[in-house]
Amino acid sequence: MISLDGVGKRFEAADGHEVQALSGVSLTVADGSFTALVGQSGCGKSTLLRLVAGLVPKSEGHVQLDGREVTAPHPDVGFVFQAPTLLPWADVLTNVLFPLRILGKLDATGTARARELLAMAGLSGFERKTPRELSGGMQQRVAICRALVHEPRILLMDEPFGALDALTREEMSLELLRLWTERPCTILFVTHSITEAVILADQVVTMTPRPGRVADIVDVALPRPRSFSQVSTEEFARCAERIRSHIFGRPVAA
Ligand SMILES: Nc1ncnc2c1ncn2[C@@H]1O[C@H](COP(=O)(O)OP(=O)(O)O)[C@@H](O)[C@H]1O
Ligand SMILES: [Mg+2]
Repeated sequence: MISLDGVGKRFEAADGHEVQALSGVSLTVADGSFTALVGQSGCGKSTLLRLVAGLVPKSEGHVQLDGREVTAPHPDVGFVFQAPTLLPWADVLTNVLFPLRILGKLDATGTARARELLAMAGLSGFERKTPRELSGGMQQRVAICRALVHEPRILLMDEPFGALDALTREEMSLELLRLWTERPCTILFVTHSITEAVILADQVVTMTPRPGRVADIVDVALPRPRSFSQVSTEEFARCAERIRSHIFGRPVAA
């Protein structure tokens, strides 16, 4: 379980002023659930993810994984950044195996698992290609395989499909749901697409503009397996309208 309690984060800006990025954030993410995080640009979504990953220290409050305070990056966590941050000189398989190498767990089982993930992501036959030989969508799929190769129990995804065209984006998000169903883990997923948030998630957390606070949490009652055709349902409309009203800080229009 991921738990944040009264979490605040201040940065010192280049001009010496302090920026309060997050303030009083409390949130619980249940094991095996899919939580989406939405809010305007600059409201602290990436900061929140980095705090959970142990990549930056918090200023106040508690960030805990299974009741233990996060103080450093944790092998139970996989991270997917907005841009596919692959090693440009290494081939696809080497990139996917990178976390195992770092953790000192590179063995035949890990390599077999990497190949299996690549196959699931439709990348069989591309193992020896370098990133620049792949499209943006394929690179991002490699990055997702890399985040999953060490079987993390928690997957943190920061606008993972932000750079993709709309069609690839829909296809990839459904692929992600398929992977998640086959190999359950806890997902915290940042997006600026309300549609994507509602179609993918069990719960959607909206954040206020800076300093980021939790404005609202909506449980999405759409049945699984999900598809984008569910955008025409009443439940989708209810969730999307509620999220919109909280992001823009005004009541729902009649
Ligand atoms: N390393 C940093 N140094 C200074 N300010 C930062 C740093 N990282 C983020 N910020 C500031 O914190 C706020 C939240 O940023 P971020 O978490 O990236 O927002 P989001 O991902 O929601 O767009 C912004 O005002 C941003 O400028
Ligand atoms: Mg961000």
